[in-house]
Amino acid sequence: MEKALLEYLICPFCAGSLQVDKVINVKNTRIIDGILSCPCHRYPIVSGILCLQGDETSEKALNLLDMKKTSAALYLMLEGRMMKKIINLTKKLHLAPSFWKIIGFWNWRYWTAYLRYRFSAPNFICSLSLMPVIKEAEGYMLDVCAGVGHFAFMAAKHIPATKIVCVERRFTNLYLAREFFAPHAAGYIDWDASQMLPFVDGFFNSVVCLDSFHYIETKYLFSKEMMRVLNDDGILLIPHIHNSSLSNVLPGTPLSPSHYQNLFSNLEIRMIPEEKMLKDLLSEDAVDLSLTKDEAGDFTLAVSRNTKYFKRYSTSMLFESSPINLIVNPIYKVKKCRSGIHLKLKFPCRLYRAEFPLIERYFEKKLFINNDDLKNEEKGEKKMMWQKRFILIDVPLRFMNRQAVS
Ligand SMILES: C[S@@+](CC[C@H](N)C(=O)[O-])C[C@H]1O[C@@H](n2cnc3c(N)ncnc32)[C@H](O)[C@@H]1O
Repeated sequence: MEKALLEYLICPFCAGSLQVDKVINVKNTRIIDGILSCPCHRYPIVSGILCLQGDETSEKALNLLDMKKTSAALYLMLEGRMMKKIINLTKKLHLAPSFWKIIGFWNWRYWTAYLRYRFSAPNFICSLSLMPVIKEAEGYMLDVCAGVGHFAFMAAKHIPATKIVCVERRFTNLYLAREFFAPHAAGYIDWDASQMLPFVDGFFNSVVCLDSFHYIETKYLFSKEMMRVLNDDGILLIPHIHNSSLSNVLPGTPLSPSHYQNLFSNLEIRMIPEEKMLKDLLSEDAVDLSLTKDEAGDFTLAVSRNTKYFKRYSTSMLFESSPINLIVNPIYKVKKCRSGIHLKLKFPCRLYRAEFPLIERYFEKKLFINNDDLKNEEKGEKKMMWQKRFILIDVPLRFMNRQAVS
């Protein structure tokens, strides 16, 4: 956790400021292991992750940190017997397995598929078109309900990683975020977002809550809290919000579009249907926040006190930076032949296929990529075209063992 973040954090129970109580391991400007305190609690920082839950496990972690037993504190905080063992072992033996492999040990089948194929999901792809908006907002970005940090990884290509803060209620997700997806984020905070958020008023210029708002029970409180921590010029983006009029494989507790709007009734709000966002991104290199459309599907909600954001943006910046690790989208099975590669769409499981019906509508089912088109720099245009169709995707270095395309 970046020390600079400390002055903007508050205790979610007493709203007091957080002070450094004990530092065990530091790396440059970051506290890796240590303890923070406020007027009412002490909070552990384990492997760079600040745990604000104040529960029995945190108490045990504090005891271990007081004895400087940092590896034992990490072992305690991680979830799943196999996950604990594997992460412990890989650290001891200095191994560097891929995320794809590690996540298989959580023994939580659908979550594994969801995370392995997150870069392929249409709702995730749509959310990427919001990057120009986040870039325009500048300043700090909060990724709340961050999962393992897929979105933070993509955002770090467009804003400094040290301006990103991830909040998530599962410590293990944050551990994976720090290890694989967003290693340089300013903060990783283990906290249940259905309660008060642990930040001072108006700290963030953008707040993003992707594919999660429908899972929060305290929607009224959560909407107020997200607006409280957002500054007057900032923007709240809630991509992929479930619509209660639509059946969903994992619905959470969704509302109707008008009930979501009521949560933000005194603010400027736009609702953008997800399928329109996908079409605009894929065929027009654009995202349009100028209009509200109340359609039957899932959608993105954009809320601000400032109307400057409600316009059309070009999304071409998404493909302008040099890729880190460009691979064939894992949703495609790859078969090599002498002249190139054959790709065939293959879903990881039936549930995934049911959750993401837009994949079959917007992704080619089969295609062939010629070796020459991949290797020949003069044919860079083709590579760009495949990136723009998300057939080639840029992923973290240790995401999976699939070979990068040259
Ligand atoms: C469907 S996942 C989305 C993850 C990520 N935003 C993405 O789109 O890749 C929902 C995430 O919200 C987290 N979550 C659910 N309820 C939460 C809560 N009350 N507080 C914090 N995180 C929560 C879950 O642990 C999970 O990681």
